[in-house]
Amino acid sequence: MGKYIINGGNKLMGEVSVSGAKNSVLPILAATVIGENKSTIFNIPNLRDVEIMESILLSLGCTVKRTGNIMEIDSKPLNQIVVPEELVREMRSSIILMGAMLSRTGEVVITYPGGCEIGPRPIDLHLKALRSMGAIIEESHGQLYCKTEGLKGCDIQLDYPSVGATENIILAAVKAKGTTVIRNAAREPEIIDLQNYLNKSGAKVSGAGTSVITIEGVKELKDVTHTIIPDRIVAGTLMVASTITGGDIILNNIIVEHLLGTIAKLKEAGALIYTNGNSLKVAGPRKVNSIEMIQTLPYPGFPTDMQAQMMALLSIANGTSIICETVFENRFKHGEELIRMGANIKIFGRVAVINGVKELTGAKVTAKDLRGGAALTLAGLVAKGTTEVQNIYHIERGYEDFHITLQNLGADIVKID
Ligand code: UD1
Repeated sequence: MGKYIINGGNKLMGEVSVSGAKNSVLPILAATVIGENKSTIFNIPNLRDVEIMESILLSLGCTVKRTGNIMEIDSKPLNQIVVPEELVREMRSSIILMGAMLSRTGEVVITYPGGCEIGPRPIDLHLKALRSMGAIIEESHGQLYCKTEGLKGCDIQLDYPSVGATENIILAAVKAKGTTVIRNAAREPEIIDLQNYLNKSGAKVSGAGTSVITIEGVKELKDVTHTIIPDRIVAGTLMVASTITGGDIILNNIIVEHLLGTIAKLKEAGALIYTNGNSLKVAGPRKVNSIEMIQTLPYPGFPTDMQAQMMALLSIANGTSIICETVFENRFKHGEELIRMGANIKIFGRVAVINGVKELTGAKVTAKDLRGGAALTLAGLVAKGTTEVQNIYHIERGYEDFHITLQNLGADIVKID
């Protein structure tokens, strides 16, 4: 298993272009199976999770051709209904294939994704909604056997604006009979991207980005070309990298509107941020300010996927900060690792109190999950001495060549396989 070796202390400087969004590309690749059409997708990030989704599409019988950042998928030859267990276990979000496959074949067998490193992550909202659309779902020996005589549009009130459940329902509803309305839908930008992809292929989805999404079922889908939006979490992570090192970097290929929650908090921490069209410049302060409170919330609130990186930043702030994680139950594992690097962090359930220290010191730490691993890497960039981040396969699930991006900005980081 690979690791990063980082010698801290270099200020990050330079320019970088942000890659396509992981959380956008995964549901869109799942959506490619709904019709018997061809999809050409641009700005595909080079990530482990994308490779897994590609393997799933191939195993279902689709033809997939990948050339650099372009992926062409022909879903006409799809001839399987079982999603391979080992691939579902590797990537929890493959559960969004449930809605897409039910829509395409009326039948799918998929492993129950179970818990993961950031908490139990149930799928009750997905199952309840798909059942109300006419799916019969039986759970046996850890497998979900799903069948339908034909999905029907209906009115769905989500108890919580779950991103995955909203996507699963949209995918199921694209070819369902009649109209589906999702209330209290997730409003994340990735859902707008999914709507745009689907509508280009002839689907009738409206309201993405608001809490009421309407899908009118259509009979067929046509060939489609689509470009994935930039990854707002990769952008946010690099913004923290500049802020934590007192650096000065320019990010290109971003959508500023998607970053407003992160920008607001980084400004409170003392970063100087200037936006210019699809670019943004972030200069770090000499000393990071503490932040009275960060509360993670569904979009447009502060993203839970940026919580760990902010904790790394606040561990060297001037004073005490509080982070309240409201989205996931168990998302503070990086806190324990930051403490090994000299941070002063106390965790009480979903609340973390971070007392800023003068400096972090290099240590051997372990990435326990994707964003937590990124946070430890950021801490290593500013820590005194050498930091070794182990289990970086978590990080590679969501960051394309992370160490190379950081090297290009002047960081002293190497990857050892
Ligand atoms: C997606 C993102 C993930 C991000 C998260 C929240 C992808 C591939 N992943 O994950 O990076 O951190 O949104 O912004 O897009 N819940 C239930 N029952 C359900 C579904 C969810 O209780 O059926 C709960 C979850 O346990 C969690 C909360 O709802 O506490 C949010 O989960 P959800 O929005 O569904 O996140 P994901 O789609 O899994």
